[in-house]
Amino acid sequence: MSNVFASDHPLLAHKLTRLRDKNTDPKKFRELVREMAALLAYEATADLATMSREVETPLAIFHGTELREKIGLVPILRAGLGMVEGIWGLMPSAEVWHIGLYRDEKTLKPVEYYNKLPIEPTVSVCLILDPMLATGGSATATTDILKRWGVKKIKFVGLIGAPEGIAAMQKAHPDVPIYLAAVDERLNEHGYILPGLGDAGDRQFGTG
Ligand code: PRP
Ligand code: URA
Repeated sequence: MSNVFASDHPLLAHKLTRLRDKNTDPKKFRELVREMAALLAYEATADLATMSREVETPLAIFHGTELREKIGLVPILRAGLGMVEGIWGLMPSAEVWHIGLYRDEKTLKPVEYYNKLPIEPTVSVCLILDPMLATGGSATATTDILKRWGVKKIKFVGLIGAPEGIAAMQKAHPDVPIYLAAVDERLNEHGYILPGLGDAGDRQFGTG
């Protein structure tokens, strides 16, 4: 699992436990998703390219740096939406491009329903945002879309991954690193992650 980064940060572990708790209400759930997304994005962006930038402090010239790459945040609707705000706060000039996919309940295959990407890519790095990497269908389909769009550098940022979904992503897109707060045991017969946290979209939007 060389390109899978499952954080063992105590803050993430603490927040993830509260997120998994079935008694956590949607308001708290959204807050935790937002905070965890920011912590994970911090790790996922550690290798972003920079260029030099000179500024004047009140006392002297400082030879500093600024980000060189144009970043795109790509939340997979719906559940990925909750991860945007926390990350966007860290990189406010990022562009946000939504991709709408839902899993067909029977086949578990992703069905695309929203994609307004322009013809030419406008960003050089994309962070795909989705709390759950279950079968991996949604993540691989989104990566396909972004590669077809022409994005060269793609990373997946999620909260919980199942071994099945990680394997599917690694097979389809071995070049895409995966950042997670936890790797869980397995999928159940309905394609839900065990122990997981249930349905991430329903729990955020109160639709369960
Ligand atoms: C959930 C989740 C992922 C997908 C993961 O979305 O947010 O997008 O399932 O499963 P996969 O790895 O097997 O593709 P869902 O289809 O429930 O839609 P929602 O976010 O609108 O609730
Ligand atoms: N989607 C979810 O929201 N939860 C899972 O466990 C699997 C897919």
